[in-house]
Amino acid sequence: MKKTVLFLTLILAIAFVGSAFASKNVLEFAGGKQGKVTFDGKAHFEKVKDCGKCHKGDGAFPMKKPGAEGAAKITAPHKAGEFCGKCHDGKTAFDVTKADSCAKCHKK
Ligand code: HEC
Ligand code: HEC
Ligand code: HEC
Repeated sequence: MKKTVLFLTLILAIAFVGSAFASKNVLEFAGGKQGKVTFDGKAHFEKVKDCGKCHKGDGAFPMKKPGAEGAAKITAPHKAGEFCGKCHDGKTAFDVTKADSCAKCHKK
């Protein structure tokens, strides 16, 4: 019993370190005709300090690499409350729906 608990703790610890590392990555979205989008996972995690802010609840991101099977399908026009718009809603951060915001994320 003790050994099983120890073993499971070890597995969880490895899984946690592995996935925490993922949140330190810089992810690239192709972005279509609007131009590519670079997402700095480390800088974001330092600001929001909670995986659940992006990975839980309505409009959340799956834990997938952009473009991979099961990854977020982000369509335009963007909505506040969905994907990046969960925070980029004009309150927590600049608004995804405003024309002067597009170029803050999309680079040609
Ligand atoms: C500010 C938002 C945000 C926070 C906070 C965040 N993530 Fe993510 N994460 C994303 C986005 C965006 C993607 C890409 C999703 C997609 O394209 O479908 C992603 C993808 C991932 C992936 C798959 C890609 C990869 O690099 O392996 C994992 C695993 C992951 N996140 C784990 C975590 C963990 C663990 C935490 C907390 C330590 C965390 N994330 C915090 C936004 C966030
Ligand atoms: C959980 C909340 C949250 C989510 C979700 C989120 N962001 Fe952010 N983002 C922030 C905050 C907070 C800032 C800092 C805003 C400020 O300083 O005004 C920020 C800043 C940025 C910046 C400016 C960085 C800089 O150089 O100052 C970019 C670019 C950005 N986010 C892109 C994205 C993209 C792309 C996505 C979706 C893939 C995303 N964000 C999703 C919270 C979030
Ligand atoms: C907070 C960051 C952010 C802001 C601000 C933003 N976008 Fe995006 N946009 C994204 C991300 C991430 C994707 C997904 C790219 C992918 O999946 O390759 C995307 C995808 C798109 C796409 C391709 C999806 C489709 O339906 O064809 C278009 C077009 C687009 N955005 C237009 C805009 C316009 C116009 C604005 C300004 C009003 C804007 N975006 C503002 C992050 C942002």
